[in-house]
Amino acid sequence: MQESAITIRTLAKTEEMPYPLLLLADPDRAAIDAYLSDSSIFVAEKAGETIGVYVLFMHSRQRAEIKNIAVDLPYQGFGIGKLLLLHAIEEAKNRGAKLLEIATGNTSTGPLHLYQKMGFTISQVLPGYFTKNYPEPIIENGQLCTDQIILTKIL
Ligand code: ACO
Ligand code: ACO
Repeated sequence: MQESAITIRTLAKTEEMPYPLLLLADPDRAAIDAYLSDSSIFVAEKAGETIGVYVLFMHSRQRAEIKNIAVDLPYQGFGIGKLLLLHAIEEAKNRGAKLLEIATGNTSTGPLHLYQKMGFTISQVLPGYFTKNYPEPIIENGQLCTDQIILTKIL
């Protein structure tokens, strides 16, 4: 698949939210809705179809966080996640952020690999975060997801 065929743009708050994609990254709809209202949403499109998303939240002027990042299943593994991360890094820099955070679960081996490859380093582990805060157990790669791993990148 040609990367040049992919465009990334801001999604207006009035446009339909790509919930099926957002729910791939975060199974808790209530948690998603809580951060969407104060965040910027970016979508990756190919031939008019939304195939990826990321959500950027500013904790402060200098501290940004990617709250959600997802690529539609048939398009995973073609470098679109990397493109979205590169876009988010530039966007956060342009807004004046000095630090970009991203959090995931201890069982998310793919995202953990990708984020570290993109220069994020593990800065904090919150043991039991997912078992305490999520209404349903999250099973990933055959394991119960329990801990939140927070990674940061200095911009
Ligand atoms: N296992 C191992 N490596 C992986 C995996 C995986 N599951 N997924 C991606 N990678 C690696 C690739 O091998 C590639 O490395 P390489 O250049 O050395 O080959 C690199 O990461 C880039 O991969 P992309 O093709 O750019 O990743 P993709 O387009 O698949 O997007 C994403 C990655 C967003 C994690 C996608 O797989 C996805 O949507 N997953 C489901 C939702 C999800 O888990 N989102 C993250 C939750 S955390 C959060 O939202 C803050
Ligand atoms: N990625 C994903 N899963 C793996 C991997 C891997 N690289 N290696 C093993 N597993 C999984 C297997 O799938 C299996 O799970 P399953 O039962 O769900 O299928 C489970 O782990 C057990 O696998 P084994 O076949 O018993 O593991 P193996 O005999 O390969 O031994 C070890 C694992 C010791 C890590 C071996 O691969 C090795 O010697 N690696 C190089 C040295 C190393 O990295 N050692 C650990 C460093 S940390 C330390 O020493 C404290």
